[in-house]
Amino acid sequence: MGKNLVQKILAAHLIEGELVPGKEIAIRIDQTLTQDATGTMAYLQFEAMGVPRVKTELSVSYVDHNTLQSGFENADDHRFLQTVAAKHGIRFSRPGNGICHQVHLERFGVPGKTLLGSDSHTPTGGGIGMIAIGAGGLDVAVAMAGGPFYLTCPRVVGINLVGRLSPWVSAKDVILEVLRRLSVKGGVGRIIEYCGPGVATLSVPERATITNMGAELGATTSIFPSDEVTKAFLKAQGREDAWVELGPDADATYEETLTIDLSALEPAVACPHMPDLVKTVREVGPIKVDQVLIGSCTNSSYTDLMRVASILKGKTVHPTVSLGIAPGSRQVFEMLARNGALGDLIAAGARILESACGPCIGMGQSPNSGGVSVRTFNRNFEGRSGTKDASIYLSSPEVAAATALTGVLSDPRDLGEAIDVPMPERFIIDDRMILEPAADPSTVEVLRGPNIKPLPINRPLPDTLRAGVILKVGDNITTDHIMPAGAKILPLRSNIPAISQYVFAGVDATFAERAKAAGQGFIVGGQNYGQGSSREHAALAPMYLGIKAVITQSFARIHRANLINFGILPLTFADEGDIAKVNRGDVLEIADVAAKLGTCETLEVRNVTTGETFLVRPDLTPRQVAIIKAGGLLNYTKEQA
Ligand code: F3S
Repeated sequence: MGKNLVQKILAAHLIEGELVPGKEIAIRIDQTLTQDATGTMAYLQFEAMGVPRVKTELSVSYVDHNTLQSGFENADDHRFLQTVAAKHGIRFSRPGNGICHQVHLERFGVPGKTLLGSDSHTPTGGGIGMIAIGAGGLDVAVAMAGGPFYLTCPRVVGINLVGRLSPWVSAKDVILEVLRRLSVKGGVGRIIEYCGPGVATLSVPERATITNMGAELGATTSIFPSDEVTKAFLKAQGREDAWVELGPDADATYEETLTIDLSALEPAVACPHMPDLVKTVREVGPIKVDQVLIGSCTNSSYTDLMRVASILKGKTVHPTVSLGIAPGSRQVFEMLARNGALGDLIAAGARILESACGPCIGMGQSPNSGGVSVRTFNRNFEGRSGTKDASIYLSSPEVAAATALTGVLSDPRDLGEAIDVPMPERFIIDDRMILEPAADPSTVEVLRGPNIKPLPINRPLPDTLRAGVILKVGDNITTDHIMPAGAKILPLRSNIPAISQYVFAGVDATFAERAKAAGQGFIVGGQNYGQGSSREHAALAPMYLGIKAVITQSFARIHRANLINFGILPLTFADEGDIAKVNRGDVLEIADVAAKLGTCETLEVRNVTTGETFLVRPDLTPRQVAIIKAGGLLNYTKEQA
């Protein structure tokens, strides 16, 4: 039977397991990327593994998230990232060089390779034919140390593209249509593979816009074939040697298929506050807009911004609109500057922002109170812009530029004849802002300012676990409840002793102090504990404070995986009603826990304070049992080395 592209690449990288959807598999990782918000921790974890040089084919450290330096913390982090990269064989993309996913696509992406990145939009690399997956920093650190990446073998959904996009309709409208049809949960446990005759009509940056925002489907990743279009892109980037032809077999099959007729699509927007609340621009109508932002890892390529420049050329931004533009990379920025398009943008009244994530991660440009902002970004969650009551619409660059001129949400088809922006035959290639690692690592001193603190290391699981319940919480506790973020707390991300003071700060102000004083403890929670982001600090900081186990009625998937990674035992009540048998302050005991894990389906917990007992389920794979016993993935990896 013919194979699809995902099956081919996964089979070529398979280390453990079978390619059966739903089963755990381990794959070899060829490339890694990190960004600064997650990278400091990933490199502290890598250092703790004691591996002198990365074992991947290529690892790149980018600085694109916290580029504002309003205090010393971010600057300290940047110097640490630069020197730790030089010492351990990692390339370093300097602040100002661009957004990790855009730069990686331009300069490093290779069809058929695997890429693991500590950023959820790593699937952008699927636009060039990679299996590119977002993961926690510790998983990326393990991959850099040569370890495999474990994942649940996904189902492969084939999206058959037919037809060709009409004038003024763009790649963003394709992924918005996929989101409209599948919803933000439609990709969970799946990889989306694009196929069909319409693929050849899309450029690599257009494909990357589609795979980038596949993250909003909840998909493991998304991928396009590597064809003549890919070859032309790599050639224009001076990297033709990296090209290989890759695609599904003619008789390939998919678990599910969906057809999208590109010619039937219209300019669309995702309405507040979810990326899948998609309507056509015509359906929404000419609502008044206060701000337009063009950029982010979704839509900041050379062709995206050239189309915007062509629309704005010789015109003026509407007086009630603030227009901000952030080119995705230094390459894009320089090309716009040299060909005059940057002058057209400035003359039209655009505010030119640094080549970085900027407003996408809430670093500046928050809209006015109750404002309406049209953005070419990928997320429009309530409050993410920095203004709680703002309404964010996600659109293509064409819709954004047309809107910036009229002051109301506008369909670019009303602009008249479409603009043709060809892909350049040759991009400006200048990698001087990507620093090579040192040839002699012994000459490099890793610079650690006061904001860089050593990584706390957990101890192996004790034979018997006896500790107090430090906190009992209800249902739907998010990673924001556990480890809040924000401008004050985020700069402390490489200083676990400092950031851990804020664990559960908004829920129970005394939690951190009491946990630290107790030395070890339990947390008890209701349903869906740990929902929200993949933030690994929500497991790492409680581990630092001495939390040994969390007992809940149910867990959110990614947070449960992070708890295991940091050696915290995730347990669920065998009988959900038994949550009533535990109160804050009670002392719990699980006798012979280390011996019973992996052999018993349930464990008995004795409430020493009340004398009652109840059963809990660990539900761990043999590998996860070994990780918990070792005190976390870091210790486990060192044991295996
Ligand atoms: Fe940066 Fe926003 Fe992408 S934070 S990596 S531009 S989703």
